[in-house]
Amino acid sequence: MNIGIAGTGRMGAAIATRLGGLGHKVVVWNRTRAKLAPLVAAGAQAADSPAALAAASEVIITILTNAAAIDATYGGPKGLLAGDVKGKLFIEMSTVRPQTQLVLAAKVRAKGAALVECPVGGSIAPAQQGKLIGLMGAEPADAARARPILEQLCRRLEHCGPIGSGSVMKLTINMPLMIYWQALGEALALCRPLGLDPARIMDLLADTSGGPNALKIRGAGVAQMLKGGDAGPVTFDVDSAVKDLRTMVAEGKARGVELPLTATTLGCYEETKRNVSGAAEVSTVSVYWANRAKQPSETV
Ligand SMILES: NC(=O)c1ccc[n+]([C@@H]2O[C@H](COP(=O)([O-])OP(=O)(O)OC[C@H]3O[C@@H](n4cnc5c(N)ncnc54)[C@H](OP(=O)(O)O)[C@@H]3O)[C@@H](O)[C@H]2O)c1
Repeated sequence: MNIGIAGTGRMGAAIATRLGGLGHKVVVWNRTRAKLAPLVAAGAQAADSPAALAAASEVIITILTNAAAIDATYGGPKGLLAGDVKGKLFIEMSTVRPQTQLVLAAKVRAKGAALVECPVGGSIAPAQQGKLIGLMGAEPADAARARPILEQLCRRLEHCGPIGSGSVMKLTINMPLMIYWQALGEALALCRPLGLDPARIMDLLADTSGGPNALKIRGAGVAQMLKGGDAGPVTFDVDSAVKDLRTMVAEGKARGVELPLTATTLGCYEETKRNVSGAAEVSTVSVYWANRAKQPSETV
């Protein structure tokens, strides 16, 4: 199948690699063209504009930073919706507010095409291996059309309801994870005076109810950072986490749902971004908060 991928950042590039590896004819476009080079070297075809990508593809996947990126890529004279897209299927996978997907769906339908939203859980490696968790929001017929492609990207695909419901579920699964990195930082601040090897603490935590799957994956990186080393490859950065937390807080406000812990966590992440870097790996939040604590004079 001819599949277009507009937005080849970390996730888009991994998805392009996965689909190309399965034998699909993959067409790619990215605002920063230089990022296309490795994908083209691996056999993808580069499009000059989102409109050209849509013209060359039956199915178009987008996975972009935020609502502004979606507007810029779908809209305008060279945007994905600029040409004749009647009958095409768009699959939008960014983490954004449900309202963003609803507005986009109306624009896509007005052009005679279909939109399925499918934000995902999981990062670069699961995307490359087809092991994402897909959270679909779509009309049933559109969902059925998107399913065969999404099943090649996801180990679990949930159709959560109409457009918008996938985004609500994506914010739902990310919320405890974002809060967790802050909780871990505070827990480490408490035990730091004991002087135990950070790798030992991570190993112990991962073996208890205090250790979710994310810790099993990133715990060694956190231990490295606590010893002054590097986090390893950045798969999800502090900027993206701040964006997600802001999206959660805004969504809670719009729905009249109180999210006091999420709002506080957002402030903690914003402080980390100011004092470390938005480009740092997300678990840097735990390390920043572990190190930020004033050390008591007595250790136990
Ligand atoms: N990384 C993860 O682990 C992960 C997991 C699940 C979901 N997500 C979600 O997936 C989405 C992409 O994440 P990512 O980690 O792949 O981010 P990323 O590496 O920063 O890529 C972002 C993509 O959006 C494009 N973009 C940003 N602003 C744009 C604009 N104004 N016009 C056109 N294109 C624009 C970027 O183009 P340039 O290259 O030109 O900047 C790039 O292609 C986000 O919504 C994120 O929350 C990420």
